[in-house]
Amino acid sequence: MWKQRYPVVLSLLVSSANSQGPLPTGTVVATPLVSKHFSYPTGVPYQADTDIGGRGPQLGYNLCNSSTQNPASLCQTSLFNGLADFCVWGPPESGAVFQDVTGEMVAWCTRSGYGTRLIPDGALTGLQFLKTPDYIQINGFLDQTKVNIYTGELGGQLDPHAVDGRGNPIGGLMFSNIWGGSYTQVIEWITFMGQNMFCIKACNPASPNAAAYCAHQYDRIGCPYNAPSNVQETVFQECDADNAEFPGVYTFAGVVQTYTQPPASLGPITSIPYVPKVPASSNCRTFSSADILGSSASGVAKTTETSPKSTGTGGDSDQGVGVNSALGSQMIFIHTRHYLYVSVVFCWFFI
Ligand SMILES: *[C@@H]1O[C@H](CO)[C@@H](O)[C@H](O)[C@H]1NC(C)=O
Repeated sequence: MWKQRYPVVLSLLVSSANSQGPLPTGTVVATPLVSKHFSYPTGVPYQADTDIGGRGPQLGYNLCNSSTQNPASLCQTSLFNGLADFCVWGPPESGAVFQDVTGEMVAWCTRSGYGTRLIPDGALTGLQFLKTPDYIQINGFLDQTKVNIYTGELGGQLDPHAVDGRGNPIGGLMFSNIWGGSYTQVIEWITFMGQNMFCIKACNPASPNAAAYCAHQYDRIGCPYNAPSNVQETVFQECDADNAEFPGVYTFAGVVQTYTQPPASLGPITSIPYVPKVPASSNCRTFSSADILGSSASGVAKTTETSPKSTGTGGDSDQGVGVNSALGSQMIFIHTRHYLYVSVVFCWFFI
């Protein structure tokens, strides 16, 4: 029985993983985005994603240079190097429902030189950058209309996975120079955009726990649960910090628990059994936005205040991108189908 079924399962997996022909919607590509590794800038291909069918081709490109540095850039290579040197993902055009264009987001950066669009002056109104042993993270407040997200849009999560393994955005790459002199590809990252807030968490690829710290399945509960921070409006600050718990992991009555996010088919999330803890931080440096972001900035950030030690005081679900109960049914549906598919195959294997 087992032996008879094995080849069937195998051929199913192989055929669904074949990227040569058009890809039926919902199947996983042969080489998921997180398995494609490039060096920056010289090893970056025109497009990281060459699959066709399914969700369609990659909208933009990863090879970005001075000729693609303009307000219509379709650059999908993001850099994340620090407090004033990062890119957010935003839709290429304004007006779209966030969940309809997660596959098509383009990079908007604080600095020129990356071949991307620039985040307009004044769009960012508060930032906190955390460097922890296993990841870097930035949380911020922004006028999201300046990166093509309409007023009131709740937004959602972007990450390099998605049900088909092609990522959101499709083919979106991220690099950082924070872990050494040269650039490292960030394999595992998550970001939320929406409600005039955002967060980006980039896990150190050298960490054995990168995938756990940048878990992507908690896509309905926003920054507070996935990337807890003490970000405040009008404050621009960078700190060292401890690692937070893995998203979804919490301790109750001395017992470590793992939260299971309910599928969207069960309706809005009305309660979550824990409050995420903001990790303890230290060595915080605070800057004026003009010094780090302004068009007249000298390029050398000036320290205007130093707080020697600040300790996390627990989560606040108003911080970061909030708990998006209305978050995209589409994305949740896709995730649910993915897990269903995996468990069906898994069960078949062992029956
Ligand atoms: C600049 O980027 C564009 C878009 O990816 C590409 O077509 C072009 O070849 C690049 N130019 C150079 C000199 O790499």
